[in-house]
Amino acid sequence: MLFASLVLGLLAGVSASGGHARNSTFYNPIFPGFYPDPSCIYVPERDHTFFCASSSFNAFPGIPIHASKDLQNWKLIGHVLNRKEQLPRLAETNRSTSGIWAPTLRFRDDTFWLVTTLVDDDRPQADSSRWDNVIFKAKNPYNPRSWSNAVHFNFTGYDTEPFWDEDGKSYINGAHAWQVGPYIQQAEVDLDTGAVGEWRIIWNGTGGLAPEGPHIYRKDGWYYLLAAEGGTGVDHMVTMARSKKLSGPYESYHNNPVLTNANTTSYFQTVGHSDLFHDGNGNWWAVALSTRSGPEYLNYPMGRETVMTAVSWPKGEWPTFTPIAGKMSGWPMPPSPKDIRGVGPYVNSPAAEHLTFSRSVPLPAHLTYWRYPNPSSYTPSPPGHPNALRLKPSRLNLTALNGNYAGDDQTFISRRQQHTLFSYSVTLDYAPGTIGEEAGVTAFLTQNHHLDMGVVLLPRGSATAPSLPGMGSNDPDADDDRGEGEDNEELIPHVRFRGESYVPVPAPAVYPLPRAWRSEKLVLEIRASNATHFTFSIGPEGRRSERKLVMEASNDAVSWGFTGTLLGIYATSNGGNGTTPAYFSDWRYTPLEQFRD
Ligand SMILES: *[C@@H]1O[C@H](CO)[C@@H](O)[C@H](O)[C@H]1NC(C)=O
Ligand SMILES: *[C@@H]1O[C@H](CO)[C@@H](O)[C@H](O)[C@H]1NC(C)=O
Ligand SMILES: *[C@@H]1O[C@H](CO)[C@@H](O)[C@H](O)[C@H]1NC(C)=O
Ligand SMILES: *[C@@H]1O[C@H](CO)[C@@H](O)[C@H](O)[C@H]1NC(C)=O
Ligand SMILES: *[C@@H]1O[C@H](CO)[C@@H](O)[C@H](O)[C@H]1NC(C)=O
Ligand SMILES: *[C@@H]1O[C@H](CO)[C@@H](O)[C@H](O)[C@H]1NC(C)=O
Ligand SMILES: *[C@@H]1O[C@H](CO)[C@@H](O)[C@H](O)[C@H]1NC(C)=O
Ligand SMILES: *[C@@H]1O[C@H](CO)[C@@H](O)[C@H](O)[C@H]1NC(C)=O
Repeated sequence: MLFASLVLGLLAGVSASGGHARNSTFYNPIFPGFYPDPSCIYVPERDHTFFCASSSFNAFPGIPIHASKDLQNWKLIGHVLNRKEQLPRLAETNRSTSGIWAPTLRFRDDTFWLVTTLVDDDRPQADSSRWDNVIFKAKNPYNPRSWSNAVHFNFTGYDTEPFWDEDGKSYINGAHAWQVGPYIQQAEVDLDTGAVGEWRIIWNGTGGLAPEGPHIYRKDGWYYLLAAEGGTGVDHMVTMARSKKLSGPYESYHNNPVLTNANTTSYFQTVGHSDLFHDGNGNWWAVALSTRSGPEYLNYPMGRETVMTAVSWPKGEWPTFTPIAGKMSGWPMPPSPKDIRGVGPYVNSPAAEHLTFSRSVPLPAHLTYWRYPNPSSYTPSPPGHPNALRLKPSRLNLTALNGNYAGDDQTFISRRQQHTLFSYSVTLDYAPGTIGEEAGVTAFLTQNHHLDMGVVLLPRGSATAPSLPGMGSNDPDADDDRGEGEDNEELIPHVRFRGESYVPVPAPAVYPLPRAWRSEKLVLEIRASNATHFTFSIGPEGRRSERKLVMEASNDAVSWGFTGTLLGIYATSNGGNGTTPAYFSDWRYTPLEQFRD
């Protein structure tokens, strides 16, 4: 009997009852790194799977979709925006705050629907061309080609979502431009053509800045409207209202906000922009975005990440959200095997990564470009360089013309910073031949916010110091930079650190590349050895003891705005005529530590 009931208990744990299973412990963020504005659904029709979308701004591929069967192990399964022809305008929108803003993912009629806005943040709020609202759909989100081209619809606002009423009619809910509203609007829509009816104001929020991110849920005879208010900084919060009619009037909850970490000392700040979903076992959950910054809100290079919480939502009542922290307790997890047909590593606990750029293996799907890449600039294992990735330089460097310019491609490929402490390193084989040519590593947030260390060909005399730190200028390996001796070329390769940000960054540091290293492969490393600083170092491959620290820089330079830090490699002619390729190999990302409080 005892044995039988134990077995039954275990079975109950893996069945839908949930009543016997214990509450779970889980950890935030569930998606560490640049994964803001989450929107998640549970799809029983697709093998009882949870799917989440995130916003991606100028990153490409855009709008990552992660899937899980147990709410604990999540894998990237693909990207909604994976081909230029789906939405060519992503190549043209200037400004780092432009691009894909908050998407909403829903499942209906055996189809996945993804509604979002391509924002051109250069144009006035009230200009309808600033807000390119789009609908994508797919039958099979595991297949990138299944995602349709964008269907455009007219709305002078953002954070749009689809909603289907019980009579089968479809609607869009969205946040109106904030210098015009602010309010939440709704219109009937034909999701296949993008034809919209008249926009009605359905709720003005509770008085917080910029009511946005609306999501409507039908439950127990009510329409519940959830929104974010307060702006996406430390005042961010989640508020709710409800109505018996879809068109309103919506009555605000007297206990708003339902979720926020504003005015707390939590390490997890900016909690907001939430979405609710049911797990099929009788329980509700919510995802939201959050920034691991503490209330100081100064150092948060990973930007806005995805967090999850349990929600208790009794019949006819308002929901109660558990506040966000690093260690969470919540409902029993859906007890499914963790097998997910994903294309990437588990995003919830990213593993060490070592890429060797074999010709037979495609580049991993989680690697990220800035806007649309020129595919011919990236070649794994080209002739004569097995297991290296050849980068052809773009004319544009990482800043491009003025930090906002979108006019041409930038040769840059990256992955997200996903740990508080990490090491990221690559081996570089590069012999620049034309003035201005440069290749290196970067901690990149936007075109206006990046910290780079590269090898660059510059005129003799460009250095800020005669030799690398820790290498005496009398060291025979150092270049004396006086043009004496055997080495009297006009142009010599230099090691250069350069930062770009809205906050003060270290002045550029430029050193002659030591003469003895010029015919060697070099290892370039970015390391976060504490929560506030990155270090940049360089040395010859295979001789770790010769590696030199080039710069320590605060990560406040890449703690800003809507996106999160990307760690990557770049090659550029800096606007010049150079075409010399750079060969990168042994790409390593090593997690060191994850801070959760
Ligand atoms: C979109 O809506 C705006 C504002 O109502 C209007 O001025 C504009 O003509 C509309 N554009 C299209 C293509 O319908
Ligand atoms: C919401 O704002 C609009 C426009 O400012 C206004 O016309 C409307 O009366 C407001 N609604 C409520 C319920 O305050
Ligand atoms: C945080 O505190 C400020 C100042 O007291 C207050 O105005 C604001 O409403 C509070 N925010 C939240 C979300 O409680
Ligand atoms: C289990 O988690 C839910 C959701 O957080 C909570 O409401 C409930 O009180 C918890 N139950 C126990 C026994 O802790
Ligand atoms: C982007 O900026 C460039 C340079 O300032 C300008 O020429 C171009 O017209 C802008 N593009 C758009 C779509 O506004
Ligand atoms: C973090 O590291 C930097 C240098 O790498 C150092 O200047 C700073 O004091 C360190 N901060 C803490 C809190 O240890
Ligand atoms: C980056 O490129 C622009 C022009 O394309 C150029 O003006 C600027 O000097 C470059 N930056 C560096 C560090 O070379
Ligand atoms: C690039 O080449 C053209 C044509 O030879 C030349 O006029 C121009 O000065 C070169 N630009 C640079 C930056 O060297």
